[in-house]
Amino acid sequence: MTADVVIEGRGLSREFSFGEEKVTALHTMDIDILAGSMTAIVGKSGSGKTTLCNLLSGVDRPTTGTVRLLGHDLRSLGDAAMSRLRANRIGFVLQKDNLVPWLTIEENVAAPLIFGGMKRKAALARAAEYLELTGLSHRAKSWPSLVSGGEAQRAAVARACVGEPAVVFADEPTGALDRQNGDRVKELFWSLIRERKTAGVLITHDMDLADDADVVLHISDGRLVGEDQSTRG
Ligand SMILES: Nc1ncnc2c1ncn2[C@@H]1O[C@H](COP(=O)(O)OP(=O)(O)OP(=O)(O)O)[C@@H](O)[C@H]1O
Ligand SMILES: [Mg+2]
Repeated sequence: MTADVVIEGRGLSREFSFGEEKVTALHTMDIDILAGSMTAIVGKSGSGKTTLCNLLSGVDRPTTGTVRLLGHDLRSLGDAAMSRLRANRIGFVLQKDNLVPWLTIEENVAAPLIFGGMKRKAALARAAEYLELTGLSHRAKSWPSLVSGGEAQRAAVARACVGEPAVVFADEPTGALDRQNGDRVKELFWSLIRERKTAGVLITHDMDLADDADVVLHISDGRLVGEDQSTRG
């Protein structure tokens, strides 16, 4: 594994079964994710994008194959070590159920830092910077149930980025956003990727976002059908 490969998936597949019936959500594929690069995953609804992200991030286990994430073989990583790795080195923007409903927006954004051991005051100060970057300062004290879908999505992006993780996974991070807020979110991801050498893995239907990515993985019916490498310098 070269120094720049932060995630190495080999022979990955995922099957789900309902009683007798089996659905192959992902057919065998190999994937490398590089530090300081943005990988976009594109494909139709139901093609296997979220399933793939779940395998690469250790949220789910493959039926066949192996994942090395930040140097760890996920087969031999226990639950506690996996939780620590996730809390300290990985940011997530999930497709649904993003925010903790009993924490305010600022507390949600600060949560990964507090969980990682930072003092509450320092964590809230850092959270405030990321709320500003995502245009949410005025919603800091609001409850998740009272903000709009797009505001909740931006808070989830702020929370994913606040710990300046080694890898950030985002499932449709700009899906509910207008142009201006979508651009803010893109700029935040790009600044982490450029300045912190974060690896971004973004599922997206947003062609602007995919066009700028370093690598675009095209998924169709659970198969990797194309891999475009950017020619940007
Ligand atoms: N936990 C599960 N149990 C059974 N089948 C599942 C499970 N998760 C996903 N699938 C199936 O695997 C296939 C791929 O699902 P996946 O969620 O990866 O699609 P997706 O590309 O993320 O779609 P979307 O763009 O709609 O989010 C679908 O047919 C889905 O029904
Ligand atoms: Mg999905």
